[in-house]
Amino acid sequence: MIGFFDRLARPLLRAFDPENAHSLTIKALKFAPRSRPPAGDARLQVRAFGLNFPNPVGIAPGFDKHAEVPDALLGLGFGFVEIGTVTPLPQPGNPRPRIFRLEPDQAVINRLGFNSHGAAAALSRLAARAGSGGIVGINIGANKDSSDRAADYVRLIERFAPVASYVTVNISSPNTPGLRELQHASALDDLLARIVETRDRIAPRAGPTPVLLKIAPDLSLGDLDDIVGVARARKIDGMIVGNTTISRPPSLRDQATAKQAGGLSGRPLYPLSTRMLAETYVRVEDAFRLIGVGGIDSGAAALGKIRAGADLVQLYSALVYRGISLVGEIKTALSGALDRGEAKKLSDLVGADAAAMTAENWPA
Ligand SMILES: Cc1cc2nc3c(=O)[nH]c(=O)nc-3n(C[C@H](O)[C@H](O)[C@H](O)COP(=O)(O)O)c2cc1C
Repeated sequence: MIGFFDRLARPLLRAFDPENAHSLTIKALKFAPRSRPPAGDARLQVRAFGLNFPNPVGIAPGFDKHAEVPDALLGLGFGFVEIGTVTPLPQPGNPRPRIFRLEPDQAVINRLGFNSHGAAAALSRLAARAGSGGIVGINIGANKDSSDRAADYVRLIERFAPVASYVTVNISSPNTPGLRELQHASALDDLLARIVETRDRIAPRAGPTPVLLKIAPDLSLGDLDDIVGVARARKIDGMIVGNTTISRPPSLRDQATAKQAGGLSGRPLYPLSTRMLAETYVRVEDAFRLIGVGGIDSGAAALGKIRAGADLVQLYSALVYRGISLVGEIKTALSGALDRGEAKKLSDLVGADAAAMTAENWPA
């Protein structure tokens, strides 16, 4: 299945408009014969947020926004799937076109703006697979025209906690005006207080649901100090670093497409997001675990995220350029690092380079 997809379907799909290609991929995954997740290298198992991950390579949110194919993705070998972003009510997102490929840069710009089938649709799909196993988290966001964004998050946690392995609070999408202002210290403190109260209140009924916070890579280090301080004080379960960037590295070759508004992801995001990950790791001081995401397109890049401070990694854009076989390639590379004696277990490598990275010049 993976070989078929990468050799035949993917080159064909690249000829389509990116959003149509994505819809076709989701359809193909829906109807593909269900495969069991491959038995993996037991040394790659990760325990984080109270959950046992079979391997540390997850698919980032944005790929399966509406919870249509989580089991097909687990069957392809991902250690976990994060669906979403899901908003309370269905909403169309921004007008098309709203996804752009920067082929020479192996990058993507998107300004989807939380197009969502809404909570009820995602909830019924997740409920239908309840008991199927595998780690399926949900990424939640506020509706664009919401009058009380914090209330949207609270309500979504209440609804999804019984069917999701974890919940990610997304306040870092650049495509919903004003959303990232929730990252400011006092707004964040209010939001996390309500979220943690909700998590703890429903735990006796829904079971423990780890709540993670996904941040932008574009924060100043002062903002990051505040965010980590609030996250630690409020005792959230983990952070994800990070979302797409609104910056445009000067090295981008496709300068024409780079002018499109939206968040940039893929290879050029790697230096910035990995530096932000290391900066987060040194501030968190082991209070909770981190997921590293942004520009991972090889085993070495995944290992770099782990050495910068991530227990787990996620990827999306590189699947467009490298195909699904990249997932297996990354896991093989991680096993290889252990075979070579770089460490006895992956967790020994987490954060190994973080302090040194934070002393380097800021990535251009
Ligand atoms: C087309 C597209 C849609 C995305 N949608 C979401 C989303 O709904 N919620 C979210 O938290 N991140 C979303 N992201 C961001 C990814 O989850 C990820 O943080 C980012 O793309 C960096 O990883 P990558 O370089 O491996 O793609 C999206 C990314 C892309 C390319």
